[in-house]
Amino acid sequence: MRTRGKILLVDDEEIVRQSMRDWLTAAGYEVAAVEDGVAALDLLRNTNFDVLITDLKMPGMDGLELMKRAKRIAPKLETIIITAYGSISSAISAIREGAFDYIEKPFCPERVEILLDKILKQSQLQEENIHLRERLEKTFQWRNIVGKSAQMQSVFRLIETIAPTTATVLIEGESGTGKDIIARAIWSASDRANKPFIPIDCASIPESLLASELFGHERGAFTGAVSKKLGKFEYANGGTIFLDEVGNISPGVQHYLLRILQEKEFTRIGGNESISVDVRVIAATNKQLKEEIKAGRFREDLYYRLNVVNIKLPPLRERREDIPLLAKHFLKKYCIEYKKEINSISDHALDYLMAYPFPGNVRELENIIERAVIVCQGETLRAENLPEHITGQQKEIQAATGDRLTTLEELEKEHIARVLKHTRGNISQAAQILGVQRNTIKNKIKRYGLIVPD
Ligand SMILES: Nc1ncnc2c1ncn2[C@@H]1O[C@H](COP(=O)(O)OP(=O)(O)OP(=O)(O)O)[C@@H](O)[C@H]1O
Ligand SMILES: [Mg+2]
Repeated sequence: MRTRGKILLVDDEEIVRQSMRDWLTAAGYEVAAVEDGVAALDLLRNTNFDVLITDLKMPGMDGLELMKRAKRIAPKLETIIITAYGSISSAISAIREGAFDYIEKPFCPERVEILLDKILKQSQLQEENIHLRERLEKTFQWRNIVGKSAQMQSVFRLIETIAPTTATVLIEGESGTGKDIIARAIWSASDRANKPFIPIDCASIPESLLASELFGHERGAFTGAVSKKLGKFEYANGGTIFLDEVGNISPGVQHYLLRILQEKEFTRIGGNESISVDVRVIAATNKQLKEEIKAGRFREDLYYRLNVVNIKLPPLRERREDIPLLAKHFLKKYCIEYKKEINSISDHALDYLMAYPFPGNVRELENIIERAVIVCQGETLRAENLPEHITGQQKEIQAATGDRLTTLEELEKEHIARVLKHTRGNISQAAQILGVQRNTIKNKIKRYGLIVPD
């Protein structure tokens, strides 16, 4: 039978212990009753209790002392203190010390039941809240990838489904959108997670070497091939190979790749022996492969072989709702790395981030937050910790006016913004520099809709 809760009862009087225990047990609680604080602490070390009910006055350790020490063992434990009739001052001090409530001797059981109900309901609510929060955070995060936008949510669902299969995956997205991190997540969620993940950046390896990097070569296959060499596909056997920037590979290598995808076998360069391998291929590209096919630079048949599962990662500017979440994710990451305690990002700073187009996508946001964490001095990351090109209002004005000559008003707006930035939002100081009244500046800030740096 499920009990209503677990109670630890401490009283030095046998008769109180017995009657209370009988009554609480009959009411559906599980009760352990002991006669002093030392025994109570012993029990607490080994068993979880929901509520501690303790007499205040006991020989040796008194109820207050017991409560304090019990909290150290079980921080979530709530305490009800039993006091003598009429000793209101000790009741008050019990509550001040952190007791949930007190009851006076002799007490009526109903009052105890009401208190217990209250405590248990409250802790149940707290627990539910924690679960809810955890669930919410989980839905916005898949492994270490965060995103609440509909686009990223559907990417999460897709990779969760396809990760356990051996299907070939093509990840398309601009630079910095997360192709790498997604490829690794697919691997780590697959049955192949304990087998190698071998990334190879097809763009950074000279064309002449790529084929031998991937497929290996026999001794003497070409000038410089002084000994036999195994390729990445052989090393990756049983595991996963990640072909990054697959749009860059030459027609020759495309041909080889097609064969391995179709027949699951290959020959080392300069060799005759067919070697079969079991390798899952994940490829990524920041090029539009369709365009490359049209231009005759990429084989259409290879494209279809690679594109069994297609994952399109949208640029960050098309999923701005992910920006605050990502910013906080990186804030946490770099606080740990640089041993800093920055708990939040100011609204102003977030406004700037939300307005910025992020041509370098998530990587750029990550770099910005890393740098901001390094320069930030307080507990809140502020707009002044962000780079100039994000907070600089001058650019906005230039963009707004183009090449035409600015009006006096525009110039004034720009100048006030610059001075405010210089004074870090201090309006009095700005007024002094500009030689006008504080109110004048305030009115102009309002009129021009300027953002005051914080
Ligand atoms: N959704 C995300 N959640 C958390 N971190 C992310 C996310 N997307 C990207 N990142 C981080 O941003 C950085 C850039 O991502 P990644 O290297 O995966 O991009 P990429 O698309 O492979 O870029 P490139 O085309 O330049 O190789 C990495 O540090 C990565 O961990
Ligand atoms: Mg990459």
